[in-house]
Amino acid sequence: MAAASASPDKLIIFDTTLRDGEQSPGVTLNTDEKVEIAKQLSRLGVDIIEAGFPVASPGDFNAVQRIAREVGPLTESREHLGPMVICGLARCVEKDIQTAFDAIKDAPRHRIHIFLATSDIHLEHKLKISRSECKQRISAMVAFAKALCHDIEFSPEDAGRSDRAFLCEALECAIEAGATTLNIPDTVGYNNPEEYGSLIKHLCANTRGADKVVFSTHCHNDLGLATANTLAGITNGARQIEVTINGIGERAGNTSLEEVVMNVHTHPQTYPVYHTVNTRLFYSTSRMVEDLSGMFVQANKAIVGRNAFLHESGIHQDGVLKNKLTYEIIRPEDVGVTTGNLAMGKHSGRHAFKTKLADLGYSLSDAQMQAAFEKFKQLADMKKSGVTDGDLHALVADVRSTA
Ligand code: KIV
Ligand code: ZN
Repeated sequence: MAAASASPDKLIIFDTTLRDGEQSPGVTLNTDEKVEIAKQLSRLGVDIIEAGFPVASPGDFNAVQRIAREVGPLTESREHLGPMVICGLARCVEKDIQTAFDAIKDAPRHRIHIFLATSDIHLEHKLKISRSECKQRISAMVAFAKALCHDIEFSPEDAGRSDRAFLCEALECAIEAGATTLNIPDTVGYNNPEEYGSLIKHLCANTRGADKVVFSTHCHNDLGLATANTLAGITNGARQIEVTINGIGERAGNTSLEEVVMNVHTHPQTYPVYHTVNTRLFYSTSRMVEDLSGMFVQANKAIVGRNAFLHESGIHQDGVLKNKLTYEIIRPEDVGVTTGNLAMGKHSGRHAFKTKLADLGYSLSDAQMQAAFEKFKQLADMKKSGVTDGDLHALVADVRSTA
């Protein structure tokens, strides 16, 4: 474990559920749904939301504008934080930048996020421009945006596969033209934690003007490493993270907000940063995004999956009933989980079974308890999906009528 720094830095939470998250295949949120999610993200305490890609469609423009107007102003729940920054995405062209600005400008705090690819694969095959044209476009378009708005973020798309020396030159163009945040996307989820961490470290150390800007992570989960890569980015100097609720996003998704925040929370000695998110709203926020996006959260997903705090095996159940610390590293209530932590199935033991029945309000004689436990084991062997509270009510009624 690294030593804790005397005064940890603030970790800026940039949520892109409504932009990169909405780019998940099959997800389309209507404007009312986007406003509802934006309000919840504001209550959650995130610092910045990327509300959309305003040039993409009139619907996207309207949603970003409504969020800027309705969610951007300071609310009571954020008095200790100040207004949330509302951000709009733009390609590195005037029309996109102007449209993004028009959509966000009514928010008291707003940001334009401009991106242009820097990897040779993208320059040659997608954009068909040279490295020097790429740098010229960054300089010209960041300067154009800076004349509209003081808070400018620049992203070299596919940074994870870009030549490092060229990446530094491209980022220097962005800084000289007025960018205040430099976001480093591993667009295709290609990096591993060692590579991504060393990339952030290299850019912080070798980009002229790096001390004037905030470096940000933006990781995709194609190899299942988005959370690990983001944490490696923090360790190596990034102070903003781009994340989504439930990790939704293109292909295998983006880094999950709740996973990174709970890592930072659980290991304050390892990560020298603090955050201002209300983790107790994670579970409800996750359910809201799941319902509105239609993207189901896998049961065993860390932090917000339905099984994340459930124990089924008899040994584990007995342990947590004696002391939760035996098998729980996070208190469920810290992420807003308030339901019981015992899953009743074929691995459950007598201790958990008795506790569960007591929780349901039953007090049985020893003989009834013995009969009920035997029936429960038979039922659990037959049922694939576990024994529900309803099953237990029926089982107790059956035992009481016969024993
Ligand atoms: O993954 C990516 O490169 C992006 C950029 C637009 C930041 O989402
Ligand atoms: Zn992305």
